[in-house]
Amino acid sequence: MALAEDKNNILNKIKSAVSLDDLEKIRLYYLGKKGLIPEALKGLGSLSIEEKKSKGQELNIIKKLIEETIKDQKINIENKEIEKKLNSETIDVTLPPNISEQGKIHPISQTIFSIIEIFGNLNYVVETGPDIETDFNNFTALNIPEHHPAREMQDTFYINGDESNNVLRTHTSPVQVRTMLNTKPPIKIIVPGRTYRSDSDATHAPMFHQVEGLVVDESSTMVDLKSTLVTFLEEFFEVKNLQYRFRPSYFPFTEPSAEMDVAYTKINNKIKIGEGDDWLEILGCGMVNPIVLENCNIDSKKYQGFAFGMGIERLSMLKYGISDLRSFFDPNYRWLEHYGFSVLDSQTRSGL
Ligand code: PHE
Repeated sequence: MALAEDKNNILNKIKSAVSLDDLEKIRLYYLGKKGLIPEALKGLGSLSIEEKKSKGQELNIIKKLIEETIKDQKINIENKEIEKKLNSETIDVTLPPNISEQGKIHPISQTIFSIIEIFGNLNYVVETGPDIETDFNNFTALNIPEHHPAREMQDTFYINGDESNNVLRTHTSPVQVRTMLNTKPPIKIIVPGRTYRSDSDATHAPMFHQVEGLVVDESSTMVDLKSTLVTFLEEFFEVKNLQYRFRPSYFPFTEPSAEMDVAYTKINNKIKIGEGDDWLEILGCGMVNPIVLENCNIDSKKYQGFAFGMGIERLSMLKYGISDLRSFFDPNYRWLEHYGFSVLDSQTRSGL
């Protein structure tokens, strides 16, 4: 029978198979249900016990050998195919990517791009800081000492299990501290980023975004603060002659402090920013408290400045007519298709 074939002959046949198809044919020929080996094993039935034993052993050894050789050859062929692919498929990284219509920029990202672009034109530099902050940067240096009632203004997430009193930053203001400790005035920064408070309902999310602004130099005043914010808001909402008002307020890190409201009207259930009889609170601001300057090793007799902070979701909702804050954080692709921005939008790109 064919199995009388030289063992080496069989193995050579396997080793010279060049495709997985060939290999499979060989496997079926020897090991398949009707293959030579199973047939030969069946044929043992008619032999004497002694012969059955020795022939059986022999067949099983050949069977194993064939199986192993086929396995090795399979790996060989597969490796060769990968190599061939790698050699033939080259990628031209200089070709433009195919980003035609797939994916959208999230409105929060888009809002951050616009904010950076507008303040960039006013010569502000972007600064960032970590989400996990020290108690000193988030509170103490900002003139919010321990047990001060102002700490209650913000429902803080404390980091459990470490002695450091670290917190998830409750605002972007700690980056004021970081920047003042690390650089000498003049300072002119904005800080977009994530912030956290233990709060959750239709208008509050436990994670949200703020943008902070800080200017420290020898001469900036409340008038500069006011004109900066008005310029920003008119640009951002694309309105001329924005109607606004400043209300006295309190923040431990600014003195005096104010909140800024902008006028709005509701037309067909849509909010139109800029004019009208209703007021919307939009941001907090003030002159940097000299105590904060001193806490950050800046001479408060020589330097002064202003700071402001606003919620990015809020700005985004007002600009793009999004009514529920929580929808920003839903993994809802259809929502993003509707409210998201095209990657090819020039506004988006210029913000990058
Ligand atoms: N950090 C304040 C807040 O989160 C906002 C603010 C920033 C107010 C800077 C004044 C100056 O509410």
